[in-house]
Amino acid sequence: MLPKTITEFAHAKINLCLHVTGQRADGYHLLDSLVVFAGIGDGLRATPADGLSLRITGPFAAGVPAGDDNLVLRAARLVAGDMGAELVLDKRLPPASGIGGGSADAAAAIRVLLRLQAMAGRMPVMAQAQADAVAALGADVPVCLASHPARMRGIGEKLDWLPPLPEVHVVLANPRVEVPTPAVFKTLPHKENPSLPEALPGWIDAAALADWLRETRNDLEAPARTIAPVIGDVVSALAALPGALFARMSGSGATCFALFAKEAEAIAASEALAADQPEWWVASGLIYPGRADMAQLIRAT
Ligand code: C5P
Repeated sequence: MLPKTITEFAHAKINLCLHVTGQRADGYHLLDSLVVFAGIGDGLRATPADGLSLRITGPFAAGVPAGDDNLVLRAARLVAGDMGAELVLDKRLPPASGIGGGSADAAAAIRVLLRLQAMAGRMPVMAQAQADAVAALGADVPVCLASHPARMRGIGEKLDWLPPLPEVHVVLANPRVEVPTPAVFKTLPHKENPSLPEALPGWIDAAALADWLRETRNDLEAPARTIAPVIGDVVSALAALPGALFARMSGSGATCFALFAKEAEAIAASEALAADQPEWWVASGLIYPGRADMAQLIRAT
C-alpha cells in the first residue's frame, strides 16, 4: 500500500486589535488581543517516511530557510517520537509579516504529526512538557494550534475562545517589506497601555464588529510605521476600498487588513487593490466564524 499523504492548512492569523498592557521580567510583552483566522494560508503536506525531512515550495519559498532550524521541523521533532515524515510546506504567506506565518506553520506541523500518530494507531496526546516546548516555539503557536477566534492574553498563552462571529470577509495587503517583531516591540514608547474591556459584546454583524474595533487599538502600528512608513499607505489604501468597514495593521506588521460584510465586495476590492498596487501581496478570504460546538463546550466549562 502506498503511504498516505495528509495535508493541514496553516491559516493566516489576524490581530483585529492588539493592546500591549505590560512587560514581563524576561522582556516579553503582555498582550490583550482579539485573534481571528482567515481562509488564506500556507499548506503543509506530510507523507509517512523514514526520518523527518522538509521541502519548501510556493511563491514565498525563497524567504524561508529550509534547514534544521525551520519552525516546521522544530515543531515536528517535538511530537514525532519515532515517526518519520516527508513534509512539504507550500509557502503562500509573506514571511515576517504579522500574520503568524511561522507560528501557523509550526502549529500545522504539530497537527499533521498528531494525525499521523493517530493513523498509525497511537494515541495522539501531548505531555505537559511537550506542550510547553511547543508554546516556546513562538508566542502565537498556542492560538494557531486551534485556529479558532480567541482573546489572547499573557504573552499569547492565555486563551479564551470567542463565541461564533458574524459573517466577515477580509482583504490582506503586504507591501513586501519584512518587519522584524523584536524591533517593533523595542520601538514601542509605552509598554503599559489599557487592556480591552473585560466583557466583550456579541457582534450581530460585520458592521457592529467594525464599530466596536474603532474603540480599540493596535499599539504596535505606530512603532511599526516608524520602521516601515509604507504601512501608513497600505492602511489608507485598504480603508479607501469600496465596501471596506475597517482597516488596520495586524500583529507587528507589515501586513494590514480590511473587513467587509460580503464576499463579493472583498473579492472586488482585492482585485482592484492588486491592480492598483502590483508590487504588493494582496489576498482575500473568509474570516472563520469559529465552531458553535467549541463555543458550547467553552460555555459549559
Ligand atoms: O515568540 P515570537 O517568535 O512570536 O516573537 C518574536 C519576538 O517578539 C520575541 O523574541 C520578543 O522579542 C518579541 N515578543 C514580545 N512579546 C510577545 C511576543 C513577542 O516581546 N508577546
